[in-house]
Amino acid sequence: ADLATRFPLTANAAPAGEDAYSAVMDNLSFGVSFTDHMARATWTPREGWHGHRVEAFGPLTLSPAAAVLHYGQEIFEGLKAYRHADGSVWTFRPGFNAARFNASARRLAMPELPEEDFVASLAALVAADARWVPSVPGSSLYLRPFAIATEPFLGVRSAHQVEYLLIASPVGPYFAHGFEPVAIWVAEDYHRVGPGGMGAAKTGGNYAASLLPQQEAYEKGFEQVCFLDAATGTHLEELGGMNVFAVGADGTVRTPSLTGTILEGGTRGSILQLLRESGRKVSEETINLAELLEQIRSGEVSEMFACGTAAVITPIGRLAGSGFDVTVADGRPGAVTSGLYAELTDIQYGVRPDTHDWMYRL
Ligand code: COI
Repeated sequence: ADLATRFPLTANAAPAGEDAYSAVMDNLSFGVSFTDHMARATWTPREGWHGHRVEAFGPLTLSPAAAVLHYGQEIFEGLKAYRHADGSVWTFRPGFNAARFNASARRLAMPELPEEDFVASLAALVAADARWVPSVPGSSLYLRPFAIATEPFLGVRSAHQVEYLLIASPVGPYFAHGFEPVAIWVAEDYHRVGPGGMGAAKTGGNYAASLLPQQEAYEKGFEQVCFLDAATGTHLEELGGMNVFAVGADGTVRTPSLTGTILEGGTRGSILQLLRESGRKVSEETINLAELLEQIRSGEVSEMFACGTAAVITPIGRLAGSGFDVTVADGRPGAVTSGLYAELTDIQYGVRPDTHDWMYRL
């Protein structure tokens, strides 16, 4: 909480009125409404990070020549603030997100933000907007830190002026139906990233690359796309914005290894740790699509799920692509998937003890 003073509240927002507030909080979806404030800081080579503050949420003043608008120099993160039964507000592994933010910054040739500033911005914004942290089951305040190149310059080089911002959105489940199996389309004509590209960085361009395949999948009746590696087109990488897991009937759990072309998910890592601690056999490996389809058909693979901060853990009931369409087991959430969902969310909502020191009080 002391950290929050690094981002002083300089301009208090006129708070949303009771009606506007209730309209949002009584009908939570994902990422459509925002809180009263935002946190920000500016970077220049000469001054470093400065101007840390919390101010009213509102439109940015940006030169139309700002580099981010032309060359996409931007990075972001996603975390959630959870309200516990005693009213306190906590977030999950903010140090992980701070470190990943800086790994993304390095790949995009942007300045790193000290971890204490990253965490301080979360604390300061949640302090200013505490009433926006919902308390209904499965809800949270989604925190979206990001940085953009604001220098007005059209030359192609890393910008000499960068803005760090943090906004927050009270959210319910990412998928409208909550913990219900989703259908996945495997993209064979499009790739998200290639070897040596930005795949391990959390940057808008990777998500932009997923939009057309995602839209085509949606038109076919699927909720998400799964991307294959660009080099060989034979193995699974990740979904549009989530990591993917397969569970064997023998209890073995597999997820694609971190090859540099997939994003290292915080939820992914936490799940691997929980599974290893429970004595389960887990493996980060190459998951060949053709083999996986055979294993789903034979029943050798009995569950699949997607995971991410936004999606938490979402069962995958169906996997299809050109020339195949398979249902995973009976298409319903499996025991391992449901168990992990309960274990992880119980930790996040303070229902089970936090034996890993993952929770951070804001
Ligand atoms: C997340 O926060 O889980 C993301 O990766 C961002 C997006 C898929 C909503």
